[in-house]
Amino acid sequence: MVEILPSILAADFARLAEQIHDVETGGASILHLDVMDGRFVPNISFGPPVIRSIRAVTRLHLDVHLMIEEPERYIKDFVQAGANSILVHQEACRHLDRALRMIEDEGLPSGVVINPATPVSTLHEVLDFVDIVLVMSVNPGFGGQKFIPRSLRKVMEIDRIRQRDGLRFKIEIDGGIHMGNVADAARAGCDWIVAGSSVFGAEDPGGVVRDLKNAAQGALAVMV
Ligand code: DX5
Ligand code: ZN
Repeated sequence: MVEILPSILAADFARLAEQIHDVETGGASILHLDVMDGRFVPNISFGPPVIRSIRAVTRLHLDVHLMIEEPERYIKDFVQAGANSILVHQEACRHLDRALRMIEDEGLPSGVVINPATPVSTLHEVLDFVDIVLVMSVNPGFGGQKFIPRSLRKVMEIDRIRQRDGLRFKIEIDGGIHMGNVADAARAGCDWIVAGSSVFGAEDPGGVVRDLKNAAQGALAVMV
């Protein structure tokens, strides 16, 4: 089943609990939380204290996307804050295997993320044990950017490897997703589809989650 993961980056932080409740009502079961340090990406967002506050108001799965340098230094902090899955960038980890195993050792699903210019081949040595592979479909750092269509080729390449090798990781996509491309993402092989501004920039975020999910599921139904 395809899941739509609302990214709260585009939410109204003064009304966060209400907005989270709204997307939950629309059928979201996972929230995507974007952590930015102003170094790995040219923007700063939020860290463990905000995640702890979110944890206190929802039971949704919290998918934490770390866009920070040396993420391994902070993994425990994010676990303690209430993360349910943690993703690190291939480009930010000098010791990618160690960082992913640290997440695993905390008992959480581990995820690896690749930027638009990073090839799938850089993941070769970790695909057999990660739980999530996230393909960035924009350059990370900001919400509201334009979808990079080429990223779907990488999703298809990863999906082929997954099928060929009988692997079970989820494929996630993040950036520039809206009603016009969500079906393509589902058809390419994405299981988890992140949507920020298309959801929280709308009048009715819950309704948009429902529409995106229906469009994604509908695309798969046609394929069968
Ligand atoms: C971008 C973040 C995304 C972002 C997506 O660096 O990783 O999760 O919030 O926002 P939209 O859907 O607006 O591209
Ligand atoms: Zn993200």
